[in-house]
Amino acid sequence: MSEPILELRGVNKSFGPVHVLHDIDFTVRAGEVTALVGDNGAGKSTLVKSIAGIHPIDSGEVVFDGKPVTINGPRDAAALGIEVVYQDLALCDNLDIVQNMFLGRERGKAGMLDETDMEQAARKTLTSLSVRTVKSVRTQVSSLSGGQRQTVAIAKAVLWNSKVVLLDEPTAALGVAQTRQVLDLVRRLAEQGLGVVLISHNMNDVFEVADRIACLYLGRMAAEVPTKDVTHGQVVELITAGRSGELGIARPESATI
Ligand SMILES: Nc1ncnc2c1ncn2[C@@H]1O[C@H](COP(=O)(O)OP(=O)(O)O)[C@@H](O)[C@H]1O
Ligand SMILES: [Mg+2]
Repeated sequence: MSEPILELRGVNKSFGPVHVLHDIDFTVRAGEVTALVGDNGAGKSTLVKSIAGIHPIDSGEVVFDGKPVTINGPRDAAALGIEVVYQDLALCDNLDIVQNMFLGRERGKAGMLDETDMEQAARKTLTSLSVRTVKSVRTQVSSLSGGQRQTVAIAKAVLWNSKVVLLDEPTAALGVAQTRQVLDLVRRLAEQGLGVVLISHNMNDVFEVADRIACLYLGRMAAEVPTKDVTHGQVVELITAGRSGELGIARPESATI
């Protein structure tokens, strides 16, 4: 079994009176894809944003690479090597691929941007991820397909010596062939030793790429299991009822958000 790179223990998060995450235990392992599943409103995006420091946690413990850490903002997360690819892609249409990948973290010397350096780094990252569908790194993002955009967003996330990459529904808006490309890319991230978290609604995608499945039910972690130990049906039951046979929350009927 691979080493945990990120561990959450007993994490709680509320928005005002709304208690969204309840005592969450969650482990991300280096070199593995962990699928994070759950119904709409279960708390998946909130969990990812808590890890990313967008919504700092109210209580609980976060252990990164064996050490307790406090993540109070996106900069703390980035400094640890935690990157997120959000559901609503944060790419700028009017910029090219290199500009997007370095947005806000441009490289340069003496007040000048080092375009050659950034271009090379962008190309190297895309090549290391075996991305062959993008012809030039100077292509404007507005002319890319949905799959290519997702690819650029993921490449951007791994450009920074990332250790953990969290992907919030990366294939939600994609067709079959593009989904294929992105899933292959997700697998390659894990093969490069990153801890990958994939939020997805698609059971086929989950069963294809995930080593482990973590299921949230009304803000509680219903189960965290190796993919090989569960069936599609069990995972669907965990998502919809919080329980499936021996797995899940003891009394899901009493769970409220
Ligand atoms: N910024 C926020 N303020 C208040 N409530 C929020 C906020 N973000 C999410 N929520 C609530 O938290 C719950 C979980 O939402 P979310 O994490 O987006 O779920 P998921 O991604 O699993 O669909 C929902 O009830 C949602 O309304
Ligand atoms: Mg969401």
